[in-house]
Amino acid sequence: MAQTSGSQRPPVHVTVTGAAGQVGYGLVFRIASGQLLGPDTPVVLRMLDIEPALPALEGVAMELEDCAFPLLADTVATADANVAFDGVSWALLVGAMPRKEGMERGDLLTANGGIFGPQGRAIAARAASDIRILVVGNPCNTNCLIARANAPDIPSERWFAMTRLDENRARAQLARRAGVPVAQVTNMAIWGNHSATQYPDAINARIAGRPAPEVIGDDAWLRGEFISTVQKRGAAIIAARKLSSAGSAAAAVIDSVRSIDGGTAPGDWTSLAVPSRGEYGVPEGLQFGFPVVSDGATWHVVEGIEHDAEANDRLRVTTEELLQEQSLVRELIPV
Ligand code: NAD
Ligand code: LMR
Repeated sequence: MAQTSGSQRPPVHVTVTGAAGQVGYGLVFRIASGQLLGPDTPVVLRMLDIEPALPALEGVAMELEDCAFPLLADTVATADANVAFDGVSWALLVGAMPRKEGMERGDLLTANGGIFGPQGRAIAARAASDIRILVVGNPCNTNCLIARANAPDIPSERWFAMTRLDENRARAQLARRAGVPVAQVTNMAIWGNHSATQYPDAINARIAGRPAPEVIGDDAWLRGEFISTVQKRGAAIIAARKLSSAGSAAAAVIDSVRSIDGGTAPGDWTSLAVPSRGEYGVPEGLQFGFPVVSDGATWHVVEGIEHDAEANDRLRVTTEELLQEQSLVRELIPV
């Protein structure tokens, strides 16, 4: 299904896996309308799902066609990973089972871990030389580690797992508590795993340029209810919707890619799970949530952030959880 593009730029190929699912449905229309890569970049949307989901995926492709998006140069709907990742510059790995009420995201490792080795290998074999990958399917940190380990020729700095939804949730909670617009909340870092052990660090966040603890004036709330609300927000959404977050997850995917590609605002950072190079004592190689600064071409983990004893304890707990997840998937990681 080829459409005429109004722009002269060559289209960028973007893959969304699990495109027939909830998050996929929230995401593909935004990508096709230019919200991911901007108003001057045509897109070829390559959508991967499993064989039984192909009829639904064809329906998504039909709806995309019906939108007549000027930037959508073409769509591909397939169950073949080699086709899906052919020539892609961004791979958004969403396709995986979501958790149900009462589960933790780590409980999905057995069901989902096996998806990411083959996809890592297909990306390595087929993607464009500038490929970057964002893993969303849970447990996203460890799934990303599995895919990355299966694609050792792709530089490690191209691999990201999504902690931006947690950052957005945390910023929204702080804005509401302070009674300010959410845009005034900056420097909100999510450390560690996208799980209930994550550490949303409000101590180093800023509100209207001032330290968040000074503005909020309630340390007990910041160290207690605030943290647990953010840690458990995914479960609260599932309890309310009987489905896991989708619209907010898709929004966080767009935000993540825009921060990496377009750069972070001066003085601010964004939250991404990236391969540790030993920063803050985190074991090398873990896909760990850090505050990251990007200039659009390169990115780095923000160094020199100070943590008190309580924060260090939280970092230890989330690190141990990620190490445990890693040990559970040893057989999916080539040596
Ligand atoms: P969903 O069940 O609605 O959709 C998942 C889709 O993935 C389905 O269409 C399914 O057929 C497809 N799929 C399964 N195996 C696949 C494979 N091997 N290749 C390609 N596609 C495959 O689920 P959802 O609500 O869209 O959530 C998708 C994943 O994203 C879940 O694991 C969920 O937990 C996760 N998630 C993560 C975040 C985050 O912040 N990191 C946020 C929201 C959801
Ligand atoms: C979320 O944070 O909403 C997602 O990771 C889905 C989940 O299982 O919580």
